[in-house]
Amino acid sequence: MRRISILGSTGSIGISTLNLIEETLRPGEDYVLEALCAGRNATLLAEQARKFRPAITVLADESQWPLFKELMQGSALEIACGAEAVTAAAGRKADWVMAAIVGIAGLGPVWAAAGTGAVVALANKESLVCCGRSLLARAEAHGGRILPVDSEHNAIFQVFEESERARINRLILTASGGPFRGYSRDQLRFVTREQALKHPNWAMGAKITIDSATLANKGLEFIEAAYLFDMPPEKIDVLIHPQSVVHSLVEYADGSTLAQMGPADMRVPISHALGWPNRLKWQAPTLDLKTIGTLSFDAPDEAAFPMLRLAREALQAGGLMPVVYNAANEVMVQAFLDGKASFMAIAESVEMAMMKAQSPTMALSQATSHDMHTILETDRLTRQVVSETLGAAETRKAI
Ligand SMILES: NC(=O)c1ccc[n+]([C@@H]2O[C@H](COP(=O)([O-])OP(=O)(O)OC[C@H]3O[C@@H](n4cnc5c(N)ncnc54)[C@H](OP(=O)(O)O)[C@@H]3O)[C@@H](O)[C@H]2O)c1
Repeated sequence: MRRISILGSTGSIGISTLNLIEETLRPGEDYVLEALCAGRNATLLAEQARKFRPAITVLADESQWPLFKELMQGSALEIACGAEAVTAAAGRKADWVMAAIVGIAGLGPVWAAAGTGAVVALANKESLVCCGRSLLARAEAHGGRILPVDSEHNAIFQVFEESERARINRLILTASGGPFRGYSRDQLRFVTREQALKHPNWAMGAKITIDSATLANKGLEFIEAAYLFDMPPEKIDVLIHPQSVVHSLVEYADGSTLAQMGPADMRVPISHALGWPNRLKWQAPTLDLKTIGTLSFDAPDEAAFPMLRLAREALQAGGLMPVVYNAANEVMVQAFLDGKASFMAIAESVEMAMMKAQSPTMALSQATSHDMHTILETDRLTRQVVSETLGAAETRKAI
């Protein structure tokens, strides 16, 4: 019997995880739910809590607390509200935790979960990008481990032979290329939010969908892969693979390249993490290679999509530069979604923030320590710098 917690239960990954749990595990025999946490969707969270009856249910957004309390009336379930309560719930003793809060908001909860000795199924890539190997070390020190849920890292995890580490030439991450694959820089100047939100292969939350369109998602994954598999940047490559069938590959020195394939459905990597070290049996979608017919691979266009290059540079710069990359990207993605910044401005601002981060005023980014205070301070300073630039651009537009 496992105690399971889902952080970000109302999102795309959270919902898929709950669906899979329902389909593959028996309540009260195989599992009990310890915690369900979400951001602001009080209605869905209340529905999930009433159905799965976790030991605690937490909503982060305090403005939705009155509604949430009303929806939970008479349920006899423990509920709480606020960011601190989310982190406290994430730190409750559990055996398996799905970490699927989006963005930096997931950092504190993931850190807390990693300190419990649980197996943490990590979807929230931003927390690993910010904490680096210290997150993996924390999980290990407490007798737990981090399992990658991102389809690419989950794929590598499945074909990575630790005993052959010295004979691994490189990791190859695949990327669909997003909705703007093949676009030139000039064409990208005019793309809209609606176009960017239409991912050709995957149904995901808004932030990661925009990240896929800019290739920042692949940039974050590049950094994530380096930390997860302890690989230097020069041993990680990215290939554009529009069919999203091969989820990533490991090339060995003997000429063998091992790949993991599967349908473009996040329930597959989630089920791998949920079943690990075994495999779950369920009505999984399978691949019909005859119908797919052709698999193609191409090099990414880093001139049109600079977020990949910037991620590599952030990793090479070391210290907390990946935190700067992540924070600047988060601010700009939100600005793009709010109609306050263009698509091209996302990468431009990230590059600007990374340049400023090297100045003495933002010397924090050069800190080598990955302690939580330094990470959060670097994140805050970066957001401030990028927001000020955005504000100045807005004012200029208004004048
Ligand atoms: N979707 C995918 O296919 C996919 C694939 C690989 C990796 N990932 C990663 O998985 C994470 C989740 O992605 P997603 O697509 O599932 O995002 P999503 O659909 O936007 O869901 C995000 C979840 O986080 C919750 N949340 C937001 N702010 C919060 C806060 N301050 N405190 C607590 N919970 C908060 C949301 O709650 P409310 O909805 O209630 O506000 C929701 O449950 C991201 O880091 C993403 O990069 C996703």
